Amino acid sequence: MAQKDFTITKVMTKKPKPDDQELEFGKHFTDHMFVMDYHIDKGWYDGRIIPYQPITLDPASMIFHYGQTVFEGLKAYSTSKGDVQLFRPDENIHRLNRSNERMCIPTIDFDLAMEAIKQLVSVDKDWVPKAKGTSLYIRPYIIATEPYLGVAPSKQYKFIIILSPVGAYYKEGINPVKIAVENEYIRAVEGGTGEAKTAGNYAGSLIAQEKVADDGYAQVLWLDGHEKRYIEEVGSMNVFFKINGEVITPALNGSILPGVTRKSVIDLLKSWDIPVTERRISLDEIKEAHQKGQLEEAFGSGTAAVISPIGELAFNQVHMVINDMKTGDVSKRLYDTMTQIQYGDIEDPFDWTIRV
Ligand code: COI
Repeated sequence: MAQKDFTITKVMTKKPKPDDQELEFGKHFTDHMFVMDYHIDKGWYDGRIIPYQPITLDPASMIFHYGQTVFEGLKAYSTSKGDVQLFRPDENIHRLNRSNERMCIPTIDFDLAMEAIKQLVSVDKDWVPKAKGTSLYIRPYIIATEPYLGVAPSKQYKFIIILSPVGAYYKEGINPVKIAVENEYIRAVEGGTGEAKTAGNYAGSLIAQEKVADDGYAQVLWLDGHEKRYIEEVGSMNVFFKINGEVITPALNGSILPGVTRKSVIDLLKSWDIPVTERRISLDEIKEAHQKGQLEEAFGSGTAAVISPIGELAFNQVHMVINDMKTGDVSKRLYDTMTQIQYGDIEDPFDWTIRV
């Protein structure tokens, strides 16, 4: 039975809030958090909203040893009318449960998860920043908490949601970022955990990012794990290339994260009659299109990154500058429309937003 009557314990004193204009990504946390426990004999139980605080775990908790965990990322926006709305939270809950299945974590009732997100955001509504380009990032996650050192699915878990008022993910803001193609390490292979939103995918990617960070590259672009020829994703975003008027994004193949913003970009492009194709695309094809002057734009999409133009792709000492390091028309139109829907500045023809 889904339990939606969460107990709510509010803080006695609210924390000072950061200045909207100075927000970076993921550095501040609100006054409250949501916690719910799972035991194999009880199912999910004791959903509660409590003051934001450290969690105490047994050092043998399985999360620390075998990494059984999943997370999500979605946002709440302050609209010009003074409302707070969520962008496609249903998609995130469905993806959370798909990640759960992959990682042998018990799924969470859809309505229960939706209610937990809505109630927590509502309790901390005054933390949703108002400046354009800012939002309240919602981070639901699940960790395996059974104290046990055998390699097996945990019998106990915690589902936690924390909230963070954020600005742009990249220091470049909405200006084009530089991305390096990774040719040594791989992020994921078909049949692995690449399409699940699980911590190990991110931990394994850090080494590649560290290699290029000092040279000014915001992130790395991952190639497929078999041949290192085909484009996969950037880790914090999916990628799109506009070649000769057609927008192409790698097809979901089991090792690419199925982004909610990716899906929304495809829907928007289709609604504008801009040709958009999901298919395998190789680095060679992109190089060739660039040489022929046909690579018109490249951009990434993600909840944290929104729409992030890619101004340079680097590989093996080659620096491929795209659209003169400027934001392309399609990237700009997508960014503008997506954010106008998110902030409630234009009508939402797709019913993507949900009022809290
Ligand atoms: C997101 O876009 O929400 C992500 O999860 C990417 C990243 C911050 C890990």
